[in-house]
Amino acid sequence: MIDRSKIEEPVAVEFRQFNDDFASSLRSETNRLQAAIDMILRSSGKHIRPLLVLLTAKACGQVTDQSINSAVLLELLHTATLVHDDVIDETKQRRGLPSLNAIFDNRVSVLVGDYLLSTALGRSIQTGDLRIVGIISNLGRDLSEGEIKQLETADESIIDEARYMQVISKKTATLISACAEIGALSARADDETIAICRDFGRDLGYAFQIKDDIFDYFKNANIGKPTGNDIREGKVTLPLLYALREDRGGERETFRDIILRKDFTDAHVEALIDFAKRMGGIEYAEAKMRSFRDRAIETIKRLPESEAQRSLISLADYIVERNK
Ligand code: IPE
Ligand code: IPE
Ligand code: MG
Ligand code: MG
Repeated sequence: MIDRSKIEEPVAVEFRQFNDDFASSLRSETNRLQAAIDMILRSSGKHIRPLLVLLTAKACGQVTDQSINSAVLLELLHTATLVHDDVIDETKQRRGLPSLNAIFDNRVSVLVGDYLLSTALGRSIQTGDLRIVGIISNLGRDLSEGEIKQLETADESIIDEARYMQVISKKTATLISACAEIGALSARADDETIAICRDFGRDLGYAFQIKDDIFDYFKNANIGKPTGNDIREGKVTLPLLYALREDRGGERETFRDIILRKDFTDAHVEALIDFAKRMGGIEYAEAKMRSFRDRAIETIKRLPESEAQRSLISLADYIVERNK
């Protein structure tokens, strides 16, 4: 297993600065809001996005105050999308704890998500770089579009790999790509270097979401959120997509019918998961994920060799091998 602290090593000092800054980035006079903020601060995630910002900045030459500020704002933005996502997905657990909507309710969660998002936007102004403000503004639109497209895809029972890729591009890859791009920008890299980082981040983002989608097919207490939920909500992700497309044994009509009728009983969800596995859907998705990882690594190798660049390569491996 890849050692996380080893990946962080080239930016260990800056990462601590990020942690301190993030912890003090949120404060409110309103009791209920502050209670929600306290919950958010207690339940820390993997911090992959800020790590990516800091490592790309370092690999491009230097971590600046702007890099740390950007790392904070991108983690805030990410957290906002999770708070809203748990409302949309009606999920009651996140990061091993009850989700915000489980403790408070949907009304509070929507407002807290907005508060986080606005705090992130304010911070983007503080970077003093309109290119960063522009990227963040576009991100907000892409993330919402991705989530809505996902709803539409599930509602209309659209089973199509190109469509799946569009959804994960908008809801996940754009944000991870922005982290790498802004990392490079904050280090005052030239345009070609910025483009390398952006492309690297995009492929990393695809790999990241495919991994997350694979988790949903297994029972795993480690990941700290419920599994089996995607199918129950009609989200046909890569392993099942593959099975439904490739089956020649005559099962696919039955399973397509269940999806079309949205007949997601526990037994049907389990049967669909089992079908995806028997058909080699997990292996197919893993192969796709690894090819995105491989392309990401090829891309980042175009930067000059450094400790931080090697950590970016390890981060790509960590993303596909992680168990949470
Ligand atoms: C979860 O992201 C949302 C997806 C894009 C799949 P993470 O798995 O990075 O969440 P945390 O921040 O580590 O909890
Ligand atoms: C979430 O995707 C992506 C976001 C933009 C928030 P998922 O719905 O798969 O994320 P999890 O599994 O709930 O973390
Ligand atoms: Mg979700
Ligand atoms: Mg998921």
